[in-house]
Amino acid sequence: MKLIGALSGARQDPPPTWLMRQAGRYLPEYRELRAQARDFIDFCLRPDLAAEATLQPLRRFPLDAAIVFADILLIPYAAGAGVRFAVGEGPRMDAQDTRVKIDGLDWGAVAAGLAPVCETISRVREDLPDDKALIGFAGGPWTVATYMIGGGKDPDRWRARTLAWREPETLAALLDGLVEATASYLTAQARAGADALKLFDSWSEALPEPLFERVVIEPTARIVALLREAGVEQPVIGFPRGAGNLAARYAVETGVDALALDMTNASPAFLHLLPPGFPVQGGYDPALLAAGGPAFETEVERLIDVTASRPYVFNLGHGITPDTPVENVARLVGLVTGTR
Ligand code: CP3
Repeated sequence: MKLIGALSGARQDPPPTWLMRQAGRYLPEYRELRAQARDFIDFCLRPDLAAEATLQPLRRFPLDAAIVFADILLIPYAAGAGVRFAVGEGPRMDAQDTRVKIDGLDWGAVAAGLAPVCETISRVREDLPDDKALIGFAGGPWTVATYMIGGGKDPDRWRARTLAWREPETLAALLDGLVEATASYLTAQARAGADALKLFDSWSEALPEPLFERVVIEPTARIVALLREAGVEQPVIGFPRGAGNLAARYAVETGVDALALDMTNASPAFLHLLPPGFPVQGGYDPALLAAGGPAFETEVERLIDVTASRPYVFNLGHGITPDTPVENVARLVGLVTGTR
């Protein structure tokens, strides 16, 4: 598997390629499949539908990896936080912003509640050719906590950040629960057949260094340690989106095997801060993918150039947006993989 080669330290040419949010609403066949489920959570927890959604982008494009169709908010859903996805509104849940509410969460229910995701993984692994990798994932504890504390999307993560300073023990209790639940969930995904694992810490931005250490680095390091203690050998990709130069500390101190880059970090000035040979992934602007135009191809070349001294996995710096033309995705994947 090309992806596992790169994540294990071997540069490949052309680079293994997959795209964040490669399954989803920009694909007409996804929208059609999605209409068969009552709501988004129901869709994620139906292995027949979720397995098909996982495979859809690989039927169209010569990608090197599939990522299991699921969501980072399934853990709070299964722990009883009342997660719902209303159409056009984004995620909502009951705000978990007091010690009493956090102590009332049922972390023990997560494994059984999310068993369908592992079933999706087994089914996809069975259908996928041997050279294609299957990626399992979860949210980073801080990012998931920001949604839980805010009761949904929390602009500037204000509610989570103020709780972090005002009641550090309350936040610690929430992060502790998330660390344990996430490590068990990812262990189950690895045992079900995931070849690599990814932690999406999408809201790592704008944190002062001491807070970044406490809420991003330290919980992530505990998850990686718990995975290794459980005997999970699959490589782990970490994505501390928006962390700026702190992403270099994250890469070294958490024990992840590879760093997913946002747009800003795909630069020589940043990459210089990483240990030689540390594998990286990503960086291509999803807005450029949506827009097309003259920079479309030169940006691919730039990313391949700036990462020349280390293993690189081609990917975006954040997820594909629903308005992206399918033909642009075909063009990008074709360009990178050399198939057209
Ligand atoms: O193809 C893939 O990448 C796999 C599937 C995947 C989804 N969500 C499906 C999804 C993955 C890896 C995620 C991760 C995720 N979910 C993140 C981290 C990555 C990132 O983008 O920063 C975050 C922050 C979430 C939380 C989340 N889920 C939000 C904010 C939303 C609403 C967004 C919107 O535009 O409505 C979701 C819903 C969601 N997750 C959709 C999909 C395809 C859209 C819902 C639908 O199809 O009805």
